[in-house]
Amino acid sequence: MAELKNDRFLRALLNEPVDATPVWMMRQAGRYLPEYRETRAKAGDFLSLCKNKELACEVTIQPLERYDLDAAILFSDILTIPDAMGLGLYFEVGEGPRFKKIIRTEKDVADLPVPDAVTDLDYVMNAVKEIRRELNGRVPLIGFSGSPWTLATYMVEGGSSKDFRHVKQMMYATPEVMHGLLDKLAQSVTTYLNEQIRSGAQAVQIFDTWGGALSGPCYQEFSLKYMKQIVDGLIREHDGRKVPVILFTKNGGQWLEMMADTGADALGLDWTTDIGNARARVGDKVALQGNMDPSVLYAPASRIEQEVEFILGQYGNGSGHVFNLGHGIHQFVDPKQPKAFVDAVHELSAKYHQQ
Ligand code: CP3
Repeated sequence: MAELKNDRFLRALLNEPVDATPVWMMRQAGRYLPEYRETRAKAGDFLSLCKNKELACEVTIQPLERYDLDAAILFSDILTIPDAMGLGLYFEVGEGPRFKKIIRTEKDVADLPVPDAVTDLDYVMNAVKEIRRELNGRVPLIGFSGSPWTLATYMVEGGSSKDFRHVKQMMYATPEVMHGLLDKLAQSVTTYLNEQIRSGAQAVQIFDTWGGALSGPCYQEFSLKYMKQIVDGLIREHDGRKVPVILFTKNGGQWLEMMADTGADALGLDWTTDIGNARARVGDKVALQGNMDPSVLYAPASRIEQEVEFILGQYGNGSGHVFNLGHGIHQFVDPKQPKAFVDAVHELSAKYHQQ
């Protein structure tokens, strides 16, 4: 494999010195880019795009051609695992993801297979290999998965949800059924991420998008516990380099100490958490990733630069910070805007890294 030409992202995740703060954007490949919409149209639909390694590779690289990003993220989706478990993922236009089969009962859970990452999710591994080849050492490639809890919300609700009625009913009324489902998902995610790492992913992120919808005790019992089980089972070094693990619980700012105790290398922060305060709490244990409100990208460049400067100042001197948005980039952002953001991070951060 080619030597990495830019390893700022991996170095910052491991708290090693860098010349400038690295930056990437969650959902950096996506609908806000006209070239993405064109490639998706060529593929036919979103899932066919994920399953075609050349086209998945093409859209992974698209944002890197426009912006000076320090990492690429595999183009795929967190719902590939439930799909591989036989739930039949599809997308209803304007309504987001849906499943043909919904998980509600003890028998539904008992009948669920743990997918074989090598055979059932071969299209994801083929995309990882293709992207690594195409990147040729330009920047590191991030692999990812949903957290067991976040995946369970989609599998039990049958799609996106506002109130999590069915999944919370399962959690409170039949916790043993919920645990059975989460345990199968934790096993599935572990083998899935390890196979992404063997295929070439150089860091991995666990998206716990809905952990923040839980009470503190339920977060520990139904989300964090299973993320720790995954972290414990992951390959942490591959090809002579450490493979950092990032945990991102949206709205999880109050639980950072517990998250840092899982053994993850870095924690993702949304914009509701003060990154300086987060650093004081857990900065000796983990690196931090975040945390600009994605809506700042609707403002002029001067306002974006001001916000970048503010967040860099809150974090302060030294490594251990990967700049990012606090959640995915919105589909209505003008594709000219992220350039001001990415360039501002590199230019304004250099002064925080002088030894
Ligand atoms: O970050 C990247 O650029 C990599 C690709 C990526 C996608 N989804 C592509 C995608 C990643 C990392 C994800 C993760 C994902 N998927 C999450 C966790 C992150 C988060 O945002 O909290 C979740 C909850 C999903 C589930 C999912 N997939 C939803 C809810 C939707 C519909 C969104 C909508 O607004 O309709 C998707 C589809 C999806 N995944 C799209 C993309 C680019 C849009 C599909 C399209 O082209 O129409």
